[in-house]
Amino acid sequence: DTPGSLQGRSVLVTAGPTREPIDAVRFIANRSSGRMGFAVAGAAAAAGATVTLIAGPSEQPTPPGVQRIDVETATEMHAATLERAGDVELFIAAAAVADYRVAQPADHKVRKSDAPPTLSLVRNPDIVGDVAALPTAPFTVGFAAETHDVIDHARAKLTAKGLDMIAANRVGEGLGFEVSDNALDVLWAGGHQRLGPMAKDRLAAALIELIGAHCHAER
Ligand code: C5P
Repeated sequence: DTPGSLQGRSVLVTAGPTREPIDAVRFIANRSSGRMGFAVAGAAAAAGATVTLIAGPSEQPTPPGVQRIDVETATEMHAATLERAGDVELFIAAAAVADYRVAQPADHKVRKSDAPPTLSLVRNPDIVGDVAALPTAPFTVGFAAETHDVIDHARAKLTAKGLDMIAANRVGEGLGFEVSDNALDVLWAGGHQRLGPMAKDRLAAALIELIGAHCHAER
């Protein structure tokens, strides 16, 4: 068991976007491809962990050795995650969870009418925040996709959500979502390390190594 490896550890990962239904045929979603989160799940399995991946709708193939559970909405992702989070040693929240869902999605297709419709939205639960608040919380790692003041916003999120670690990346202008290269600023209470820019697969392996070193040290 080399330092930084996750040999024998149980790991839960969320990845991908969520889809929030508007009616029977329409939904609200975001640009997350799931690639980073799937790569993180694959890297954790390659490092020897037992990995469960809770995935929103994504075209990504399931990484070797990873048990995948498909969900669609934030509500489903929250339930699937909280059901398992108390039993794992490490939780990595890489999903781009919709902050809001439609209050009352129609079960039929809404027809065009003269007056433009108004969507009424309600807040979704904060999955990673709820996991971090569990009495038997695993070592909890979040992501922060930011367009500006990346480090400051990530540091604030680390504290506000009660996380052990946060991996921040700059998105927009050809960075982050829907691209293959990425860079991360990883922050924790006592430090900071920059990883990349490099291909998401290599970046995921580097992140897993860093997480492995820290969760060994703290647990
Ligand atoms: O607050 P924000 O969405 O920027 O935080 C991002 C982090 O929180 C990511 O790790 C994401 O997976 C997680 N998150 C979550 N549930 C939500 C919103 C975000 O787990 N409802």
